[in-house]
Amino acid sequence: MAFHVLITDPLSKEGIQVLEQQENLQYEFATDLSSDELLTKIETADALLVRSQTQVTRQLIESAGNLKIIGRAGVGVDNIDINAATERGIIVVNAPNGNTNSAAEHTMAMLMALSRKIPQAHYSLKNQQWDRKKYVGVELKNKTLGIIGLGRIGAEVAYRAKGQRMNVMAYDPFLTPEKADHLGIDYGTVKEVLNKADFITIHTPLLKETKHLLNEEAFRQMKPGVQIINCARGGIIDEEALYQAILEGKVAGAALDVLEEEPFHHHKLLNLPEVVATPHLGASTVEAQENVAVDVCQDVIWFLTGGVVQNP
Ligand code: NAD
Ligand code: MLT
Repeated sequence: MAFHVLITDPLSKEGIQVLEQQENLQYEFATDLSSDELLTKIETADALLVRSQTQVTRQLIESAGNLKIIGRAGVGVDNIDINAATERGIIVVNAPNGNTNSAAEHTMAMLMALSRKIPQAHYSLKNQQWDRKKYVGVELKNKTLGIIGLGRIGAEVAYRAKGQRMNVMAYDPFLTPEKADHLGIDYGTVKEVLNKADFITIHTPLLKETKHLLNEEAFRQMKPGVQIINCARGGIIDEEALYQAILEGKVAGAALDVLEEEPFHHHKLLNLPEVVATPHLGASTVEAQENVAVDVCQDVIWFLTGGVVQNP
């Protein structure tokens, strides 16, 4: 009997080619399913492949009769109920490395767009306005970039920020002053990073511990005029607190690739001229999508045919 691999979010064709080369495997693309359709489809699947759109809930996992592995073509697994999967002995595997570079590049693009108000100026010019006074920015050189979460993406952002001649200060529970020294950056506690940074960028997963890490109290501790970048996960910032901090003038600007609710219908943060935003595009490059699709498809095959995952 062939393994049934159900794919419920868009996946790059290079990943599909990996599946096609495998004997005894049938894949089924079924995107934009209603919850009821998904509950029916999952019943016979041996593997489920998703990106971030499909919500892999406890109910979905408990409806799966044959499911052995859930593959996430990307990093964040916050759309998957890991506890429910674990209770049923279902493996959850992600593609941790494939989009690191793209997410770091997007973070730098957001940092530079924010500091020079490029989206606002672009929009104004496209609307036939020639306004040079309104769009005065600030330089990055000699400013301090505070990085919260120095994992794969945070570290890549640190290298790039140093190339912009920024001072980099980072906090991560696994970062030591010695390691920071070795990387040529400053080590700080969360409080020190909040106190000292001119720009703060977040690169942690969304966990119980990081939910609303940047809240009212955190904004109070920041320098006046600080600018915030979030290309990690929406829920890490308390959006109401950010909104108030911008209105009060404490935060001069924010660049957001991610929002607490995605996709959204109406969001008041996006009405503020100080906010620049993209619709979760950090990993949206040809290269990253190819990488994560190939990595996760390969891992699903390894697991179904040999019982191991390699998390390449
Ligand atoms: P990673 O696991 O390599 O790094 C995360 C780091 O956060 C780790 O070093 C961890 O120690 C640290 N951390 C955990 N809790 C922390 C806390 N309370 N305070 C400070 N640091 C903490 O992950 P990554 O690949 O670098 O991804 C980072 C984030 O970016 C994730 O949320 C991921 O989902 C997101 N992401 C977004 C996009 C996008 O399209 N916008 C693309 C890729 C990844
Ligand atoms: C990730 O966690 O990998 C990113 O948010 C990109 C995605 O959702 O595909």
